[in-house]
Amino acid sequence: MTIASATRRLTAAGCVYAEEEASILAEAARTAAELDAMVARRAAGTPLEHVVGWTDFRGLRLTVGEGVFVPRPRSGFLVEEAASLTRCMSGQSRPVVVVDLCCGVGAIGAALAAEVPQVELHGVDIDPRAVACAEQNLRDVGGVVHQGDLFTALPRRLRRRIDVAVASPPYVPTEKIRLLPPEAREFEPPVALDGGADGVDLVRRIARDARRWLAPHGCLALEVGDTQVEAAAAVLEELGYPTRAVTSEEYGSAVVTGRRPH
Ligand SMILES: C[S@@+](CC[C@H](N)C(=O)[O-])C[C@H]1O[C@@H](n2cnc3c(N)ncnc32)[C@H](O)[C@@H]1O
Repeated sequence: MTIASATRRLTAAGCVYAEEEASILAEAARTAAELDAMVARRAAGTPLEHVVGWTDFRGLRLTVGEGVFVPRPRSGFLVEEAASLTRCMSGQSRPVVVVDLCCGVGAIGAALAAEVPQVELHGVDIDPRAVACAEQNLRDVGGVVHQGDLFTALPRRLRRRIDVAVASPPYVPTEKIRLLPPEAREFEPPVALDGGADGVDLVRRIARDARRWLAPHGCLALEVGDTQVEAAAAVLEELGYPTRAVTSEEYGSAVVTGRRPH
């Protein structure tokens, strides 16, 4: 199969960026037969990142295994917000302790560690397939990945030592999952998408438990859906966090931040 015929097949399957995707698949395939098989999978709806096994996130090439959440460019806004919180805490006698909760393949933590020097990075995810990818993606920046449920997966020595806890948790309201594009609905696991009835379940749990894990000056930075900004900010405010909510048109994304309540 040639790039031109791959492009035609992807176009016929409805791929919007058929030509670009055909080139990526051609670069990834070692033989014409392999390209044929990859194009067939992509044409059948498998996300491009699952077919080639990687994605580009803020200039980093990250491993993305089958069946795990594919990092979205919109999370770049969370990286920028968390990076500015992290930079404010640099200059201590120790590295800034950053925890990427619900890290998936580790995109947010990897980008933060690449963009801010002197970070001690930990990732947490409940899904062993995501953890396996994050271990690969965070190895070069010295990040440690823990498998388990939110803060319970972390070593006790991090209690009251986390400077920045960052998360892009699952935030699709359960009822809305059926409305997602098939690439998400059929190829990403429900645990990566389902944020409970109002999409804010994980925000509630993270904000409640973070009070025991954040350092006295520590901060939370959470990506939320654009319809959940008020609800998520209210969760943090009710728990006593001085709270800030910001949205970005450029990224099409929203972030809620909070400083640990005293
Ligand atoms: C929306 S994805 C985001 C992944 C990553 N932060 C990113 O932006 O690419 C949510 C991730 O949260 C993980 N997750 C869901 N519930 C969790 C929990 N209770 N504890 C830890 N991780 C969880 C899922 O396995 C999934 O990888």
